[in-house]
Amino acid sequence: MSDIRTILLVMAMHDEAKSIIESLGLKLQKKHNSKLPTETFSGKYNDKQIWLQLNGKCPRFGVDNIGTDASVLNVYTGIENHNPDLILNAGTAGGFARANAKVGDIYLSYPYVYHHDRRINIPGFTEYGIGKYTCYPCLDIAKKLGVKAGVVSTGNSLDHTPLDLEIIEQYNGEVKEMEAAAIAWVANIFGIPFLAIKAITDIVDGSETTEDEFLKNLNYASKILGEKTIELIEVL
Ligand code: ADE
Repeated sequence: MSDIRTILLVMAMHDEAKSIIESLGLKLQKKHNSKLPTETFSGKYNDKQIWLQLNGKCPRFGVDNIGTDASVLNVYTGIENHNPDLILNAGTAGGFARANAKVGDIYLSYPYVYHHDRRINIPGFTEYGIGKYTCYPCLDIAKKLGVKAGVVSTGNSLDHTPLDLEIIEQYNGEVKEMEAAAIAWVANIFGIPFLAIKAITDIVDGSETTEDEFLKNLNYASKILGEKTIELIEVL
């Protein structure tokens, strides 16, 4: 039997999580005295306890909280409340034509996740800014599931500047998204293994604008994300 009995599944957008919540029959938990917008769903799947936590909605702007800040609060409360054996971050992301990515492709994070938008040109802080957090060894699992494995690059913007692209290439990034490295930072502090699974909604170095391509493909990619996340949980 696997050592992984309890999984904290950290996700940003409700639309990304909908199919997983439905397929696994996860139930929304009552809130205990917290002003944090985080929403917790839970259930058992095979021999594993699953805690799925969403960042929840921003009370001020009424949209899903996305990006690094909300994800850090989310994973921290999840760790404190549920003491997971593994932290899994599932979400959507941009892929790269130069790496042969297609919309709907699934990637597992490997061998590391890092930040591309934390440039601090002071000795010691440069590496701190980039992060480079090692991920759960998943190459055999990726092969088994028929999905890709690649370096995941995190930043707080959906679009990108030329400098973002330069840094992403410099660190061999194949997947661009907005949460993984921040969640991995917290996982690393607590010594809990971390893995990200990402579904591609848009091609960063393609011809369409990111926001149009993202919105067009969000439901399609989220459905595949849900299916592959469940397959992943089955083999962990
Ligand atoms: N989520 C989906 N596509 C993305 C992109 N291109 N950049 C950052 N986050 C994303």
